[in-house]
Amino acid sequence: MNSQLEKIKNEAIAAIGRARDENTLTQAEIRALGRKGALTEFLRDLGRLAPEQRRAAGEEGNALKKELESVITRRRAELQKIAASGLAEREWLDVTAPGRELPAGHLHLTTQAIREITSIFSRLGYNCVSYPEVEWDWYAFESLNMPKDHTARDEWETFFLSGPSHHKFGRLVLTPHTSSGQVREMERGELPIRMVNIAKCYRRQSDVNHLPMFHQFEGLLIDKNIAITHLKGTLDYFAREFFGAGRRTRLRPFHFRFTEPSFEIDVSCGVCGGTGESRGGRCRVCKQGWLELGGAGMVHPNVLRAGGVDPREWGGFAFGWGVERTRMMKSAANIDDIRVLYKNDARFLEQF
Ligand code: DAH
Repeated sequence: MNSQLEKIKNEAIAAIGRARDENTLTQAEIRALGRKGALTEFLRDLGRLAPEQRRAAGEEGNALKKELESVITRRRAELQKIAASGLAEREWLDVTAPGRELPAGHLHLTTQAIREITSIFSRLGYNCVSYPEVEWDWYAFESLNMPKDHTARDEWETFFLSGPSHHKFGRLVLTPHTSSGQVREMERGELPIRMVNIAKCYRRQSDVNHLPMFHQFEGLLIDKNIAITHLKGTLDYFAREFFGAGRRTRLRPFHFRFTEPSFEIDVSCGVCGGTGESRGGRCRVCKQGWLELGGAGMVHPNVLRAGGVDPREWGGFAFGWGVERTRMMKSAANIDDIRVLYKNDARFLEQF
């Protein structure tokens, strides 16, 4: 072998062997094979050799180049492997150690209640919908048998929106109850109907028992030969599923314009079991055995007509209750002020 090549080879191999990290290896590589590297210069200067030596030296030089390249590649892989195992040691991680717990939130109790109510009525074949919060007077009142200026409207302390009136539908309001979904559902033109409308409602009221924004769920069933017993059975089913086995409902006569007859619905108290007495005294939760849930009744023929349904052929029942109220009754929690539900104080909300 050409003596100059021999020298280049020995130096390069030694330097490669000495390299303890990739950086040093790269420097050795550059010194031999780089643009101004020893071997590169040797090959470039071949022209200066006598023609009879040129060919052999060229072949040897090129063979050495290939050899060095492969030695370097091998050495680089080795160094990388060593570096990686070092990394594993330096950054050792115990994957079996218990993790740091991140604080996880949960659904607001109103959302929980809405999901639960939805699931209970879905099992009875009800279609769960959410009709508009901003509603025409027609759907909120007039179609529900409450003509303009009727005093019954006073009970729904309504927010009116400014803006022009519609010639048929009247003014826009923030819907004060989910009963506004009844005629909307009938207008879809599909009979029979099993609907639960769960939506936000608004009334100009704010005190320990009332919120200006709250939720209601409204049931509407329209079919043939429907009687009060169907209503009672449905309410009892709901009471058992939502509040627990053993809970019952009772109907008290009442008056609503959109149902006839109308009722207020009570559910037996979960603390005293409907007796009104617990621990030798008056039940602290209900005081008389029953808790008031909300209204219900048999749909008034005028409401059916407003929705384009023939009352001689079809009939049904409806009920409408507050979600928040119903949910609080389930906990049997004596909450002094219902407005805490929306104060966003996590210390309160975490309890549910
Ligand atoms: N919409 C009534 C309210 O907000 C509750 C109600 C009463 C709904 C009787 C009904 C019903 O569907 O039949 O006070």
